[in-house]
Amino acid sequence: MTISTNSSLHVLGIVGSLRVKSYNRGLLRAAIELAPPGLDIQIFDRLGEIPLYSQDIEEEGDPEPVTAFKEAIRQADALLVATPEYNYNIPGVLKNAIDWASRPPEGSVLNEKPAAILGASPGGTGTARSQLALRQAFLFTRTLVLPSPEVMVARVHEKFDENGVLQHEVTRRRIQDLLNSLAVWIQKFRMNLRAAA
Ligand SMILES: Cc1cc2nc3c(=O)[nH]c(=O)nc-3n(C[C@H](O)[C@H](O)[C@H](O)COP(=O)(O)O)c2cc1C
Repeated sequence: MTISTNSSLHVLGIVGSLRVKSYNRGLLRAAIELAPPGLDIQIFDRLGEIPLYSQDIEEEGDPEPVTAFKEAIRQADALLVATPEYNYNIPGVLKNAIDWASRPPEGSVLNEKPAAILGASPGGTGTARSQLALRQAFLFTRTLVLPSPEVMVARVHEKFDENGVLQHEVTRRRIQDLLNSLAVWIQKFRMNLRAAA
């Protein structure tokens, strides 16, 4: 698929894991490799620097990593969030980053930002529950999450090689489908904005 737009689409990759050998980071590396021409993905790598949310800190002004995170979201045409599943939910590090980005609620950078979700776990359900939880958080922030295809990678340890490269062909194709759909999704909202102007 080639994207029919005059400019490229810039997607911000966000990984809900700080683990060096994170499978979910591996999914985003695969997404970078599999992205259609005209869509580029850059991973925001500073989630671990974002302090735990406190309204007291916020009232003194956003800490620099929060400013950088919000700015990266603002600049992006869309988000691509790879979430692990911790206790049937999204990891605290991801929720914390979303909480910061959701502030202030009026005019948050997450508001009306197109997004796609994927996730991987060694278990059998491949982050089904954490993806639902993430969709729920994004309901409040009015983030425009692509409904399908869903990319839930179960038994992920069998799908990557020892160098952290995703080898599983069906999963690779599914990620390609997700990215193609995300490109269409972004352009749909761009056209709506143009029509409304
Ligand atoms: C605190 C904790 C809770 C977890 N809970 C779940 C869970 O509810 N469902 C699941 O499929 N895997 C669960 N796991 C396993 C993770 O899916 C696994 O560690 C995965 O590799 C994390 O993603 P990453 O490789 O991107 O770091 C849990 C792991 C941790 C550390």
